[in-house]
Amino acid sequence: MLLDIKNLRKDYTRGQQTFAAVNNVSFSMASDDFVCIMGKSGSGKTTLLNMIAGLLTPTQGKIIINDTNLFELNDQQVSAFRNQHIGYIPQGSSLLPNLNAIDNIRLPFYLTKREPQTCLSYAQSLLEKANISYLQEAFPANMSGGEMRRIAILRALICKPQLIIADEPTSDLDDESSAEIMQLLTEINQQGTALLIVTHDNDVASYSQKVLKMSAGKLLT
Ligand SMILES: Nc1ncnc2c1ncn2[C@@H]1O[C@H](COP(=O)(O)OP(=O)(O)OP(=O)(O)O)[C@@H](O)[C@H]1O
Ligand SMILES: [Mg+2]
Repeated sequence: MLLDIKNLRKDYTRGQQTFAAVNNVSFSMASDDFVCIMGKSGSGKTTLLNMIAGLLTPTQGKIIINDTNLFELNDQQVSAFRNQHIGYIPQGSSLLPNLNAIDNIRLPFYLTKREPQTCLSYAQSLLEKANISYLQEAFPANMSGGEMRRIAILRALICKPQLIIADEPTSDLDDESSAEIMQLLTEINQQGTALLIVTHDNDVASYSQKVLKMSAGKLLT
């Protein structure tokens, strides 16, 4: 298995109340799976993805990616692991406004102090594949929502990850742009990258092989 999640729990405290935003969640994914998580607002989807991406420490439970137990690593090791194995497309807009498209795509290289020049031609080929080469020098302020989302997807691909995690990759987009984004993600999956996405949209979910439903922190089976 590429990803194995066991009895995962995340407690949050608000005021006097402690509650489980993610409650005893277990599931696994193979290296070519395309899994979709659906559920109401507040059901714990982003909290779950953030733990899988190593951005948030669980209260309880295990996340094993490629035989590595994520939370046996220290912070620095988790960051390096994420950079190498996971492409994360966060909810909302996530591009850096002061970088143009090609530099936003190459950001993971800058972050690990690798020479960004070495991935320039790969970044350009990704832009070409997504049919948005014309955006290479453009800044986020001068892009449409769908274009920004596509740049964020290409940024998630730049380190050739085994797992792509996308939190509502088509929210705020019209049907046509959504379909383009889903075609791009489906192609990535068909080329051998596992895909885990959260969506509210049944059309988006129909692209996946498996839909998991989340409600009040739990996965419904
Ligand atoms: N840092 C935090 N501290 C306390 N409560 C939090 C925190 N982050 C999220 N929550 C709460 O945890 C629950 C789950 O939040 P989460 O963001 O995972 O939901 P979601 O399913 O992604 O919702 P949406 O569909 O609106 O994005 C919500 O009730 C939210 O208010
Ligand atoms: Mg969310």
